[in-house]
Amino acid sequence: MRARTMAALLGAGVLVLTAGCAGPQDADPQDAGDDKPLVGVAMPSVELERWVTDGDNVSAQLTSLGYDVDMRYAEDDPATQVEQLQAMIDAGADALVVASVDGTALSGVLADAAAADIPVIAYDRLISGTDAVDYYASFDNFRVGVLQGTALLRGLGVVDATGRPTGAAGPFAVELFAGSPDDNNATVFWDGAMSVLRPYLDSGVLTVPSGQVQREQGATQGWSADLAGERMASLLGPYRGGLRLDGVLSPYDGISQAVIAATAELGYVPVVTGQDAEVDAVRSVAAGEQYATVYKDTRQLAEVTVQMVEALLDGGEPEVNDTTSYDNGVKVVPAYLLAPQEVTKDSYSKVLVDSGYYTAEELR
Ligand code: BGC
Repeated sequence: MRARTMAALLGAGVLVLTAGCAGPQDADPQDAGDDKPLVGVAMPSVELERWVTDGDNVSAQLTSLGYDVDMRYAEDDPATQVEQLQAMIDAGADALVVASVDGTALSGVLADAAAADIPVIAYDRLISGTDAVDYYASFDNFRVGVLQGTALLRGLGVVDATGRPTGAAGPFAVELFAGSPDDNNATVFWDGAMSVLRPYLDSGVLTVPSGQVQREQGATQGWSADLAGERMASLLGPYRGGLRLDGVLSPYDGISQAVIAATAELGYVPVVTGQDAEVDAVRSVAAGEQYATVYKDTRQLAEVTVQMVEALLDGGEPEVNDTTSYDNGVKVVPAYLLAPQEVTKDSYSKVLVDSGYYTAEELR
């Protein structure tokens, strides 16, 4: 019943919840007119699997602690997200948690939040160009990129299981995909991956037959699987002609799966990386198709974020573990960064099933 209600409200892009447990101020779940603190949670899109999980985790944890939650999904549209944030501010939100669509597009609306003394936590994606962002909860995004680059090298046999060069000279033909240009994470993932791939590109062990070696050339607006599939198809010429496509750097599972679909006509699966441990991708990893993905435990990210909200609303200081990495152009945003983990055919069951992130049934 509750799940159905949540799904219906999610469909409408809006979810206002109150604590499920009875208490002195227990109110009708749709009526946020009590005096529990109200937390606005702005999420990018229901189209990409991870944000649905993230939103569910954050709102469930906030709700269980007795907060009212106003969660909205922005259909991946920056203007919609600005409107949603404005509505949360106008509704008297006490704190905002924001997973941005376009991290550079929120300065105006967040100035209103600052004027109303509403603390703002950037969730997973950095918010840039404003001092009206107080904290950042995310993963070590550079490390995500390092894991992706290293997986590609290992899948190709350029490094061994311990990460040491094997001496394989190649040349191995690869193509490179990046994430959405309006998402700061995409740049950090790319930089992390390039930090390990660059020496091999420079020495010629890796070649990029399309010649598209800049992040801008490999970018995927909105992290769109469709756009990535189209780009992969447009690069197939030399590979149709007999050159082997050895590997593809992909920053996100949706892109990885689109790349694998677009290369199906070649009759083999190149080494393809990924991120998020989405169900389809993990099934593909288990089946020996997609080579690897990167798992980020979004339950932990929700926990860190909720602890930040609690500390801020109690007048305390949230715990952070990084005060140098995330300069948003106006300030260095104090951050708590969690550790990402690589997942392969050999490790998926241990990493994802044993940890309770998925059941074995869900991955069948
Ligand atoms: C997130 C990734 C995700 C991507 C697409 C990034 O900001 O950090 O986990 O794959 O957005 O949703």
